[in-house]
Amino acid sequence: MNDKEIMEIENRYLANVFSKKPIALTRGKGITVWDVNGKEYLDCSSSYGVAALGHCHPKIVEAIKAQADQLITCHSCYYNDKRTEFIQKLVKITPKGLDKAFLSNSGAESVECAMKLARKATGKTEIIAVMGSYHGKTMGALSVTWDKKYRDPFIPLIPDIKHVAPDNASKIEEAITEKTAAVLMEPIRGEGGIRVPPDGYLQEIREICNKRNILLVFDEVQTSYGRTGKLFGCENWGITPDIMCLAKPFAGGLPIGITIAKENLMSTFKIGEHSTTFSGSPIVCAAGCAAIDTLIEEKLADKAALNGAYFKTQLEDLASKHRIIKEVRGLGLMLGVELRYDVYGVIAKALNKGILLIDAGRTVVRFLPPLIITKPQIDRVIRTFDEALGEEENDRTSSTIPN
Ligand SMILES: Cc1ncc(COP(=O)(O)O)c(C=O)c1O
Repeated sequence: MNDKEIMEIENRYLANVFSKKPIALTRGKGITVWDVNGKEYLDCSSSYGVAALGHCHPKIVEAIKAQADQLITCHSCYYNDKRTEFIQKLVKITPKGLDKAFLSNSGAESVECAMKLARKATGKTEIIAVMGSYHGKTMGALSVTWDKKYRDPFIPLIPDIKHVAPDNASKIEEAITEKTAAVLMEPIRGEGGIRVPPDGYLQEIREICNKRNILLVFDEVQTSYGRTGKLFGCENWGITPDIMCLAKPFAGGLPIGITIAKENLMSTFKIGEHSTTFSGSPIVCAAGCAAIDTLIEEKLADKAALNGAYFKTQLEDLASKHRIIKEVRGLGLMLGVELRYDVYGVIAKALNKGILLIDAGRTVVRFLPPLIITKPQIDRVIRTFDEALGEEENDRTSSTIPN
């Protein structure tokens, strides 16, 4: 099939809910992917943060192949050796005290579980989220997601959710009532524009939650697995939530969601109160074991810190050259470049030149490259982004660039 046929069939038979790019990818290796015509791209999106090890990492491929010969599926009503191995590896690296998990299939599902758990463990109903947050699009996760364009077509959503202004701990404190079960937030808002919190903010929220006896839930779907230079985003601020949501790269590219909590909280779920058919599939857990081993053995969090700092400096250099750049933000290899207008032209130009980039809202270009990216690859991305920015500036006369 050629690219036109592939696009036509997907468009005809699949729900048109994704903002599609006009390429059909068929192969990947490391940070590189190829389309059906053999054109090469550097994937600076990691497939929205999933391919943190790059594409088809040999250890993941080997683990999946070996497990496929043994047992692919095994409902969680039966015990399984790979699931056991995976959960042991996971609790070894999660922040101290977070050691009882529920396994699911996506980020949104990990949030659904956290919301139910917060209600179950506290007997209270209200959840406080922040404006600008993104937690997924199933009905519960959508209820805590901020953007009205995602929520409005589906109201009424679940009740007792409050959104408060971010980066101001007193707003959270003011919103707490006797009905409040939890504060649920991303340590760094990803979709919301790569917003790193101000110094002391998360520590203050931790203290408020302790003082008021409220659970703190961190959605680390995007900020974990070494992405920010630490294994888990919360470790940048030396705090531990009561419940943590994980997903995206934790099974090397296979679908996974993880809700991990303090033992006394997760133990409040009784048999049957939460489940999913695919929870902890052996093949996913085998890939997950390889993904955790590789993360640790290849010291990818340290590499993300080092190469992320280099990447950020290069982007800041571009900011001094291109007036359309408003701000460069981020931590580790979770970086954002805010432009003075929408980013879609720049992203399309970068795509034509062989770099895959994604947005984080209308005006922010998001860089989530695989954690294995090297300095020469970063240099290549920067050169191409520089060209794309230059062409975009030429397309729009400088008088149209707002301040
Ligand atoms: C912070 C955060 N939470 C939840 C989700 C939802 O994950 P999924 O798309 O796997 O349902 C995402 C997805 O981008 C995310 O970034």
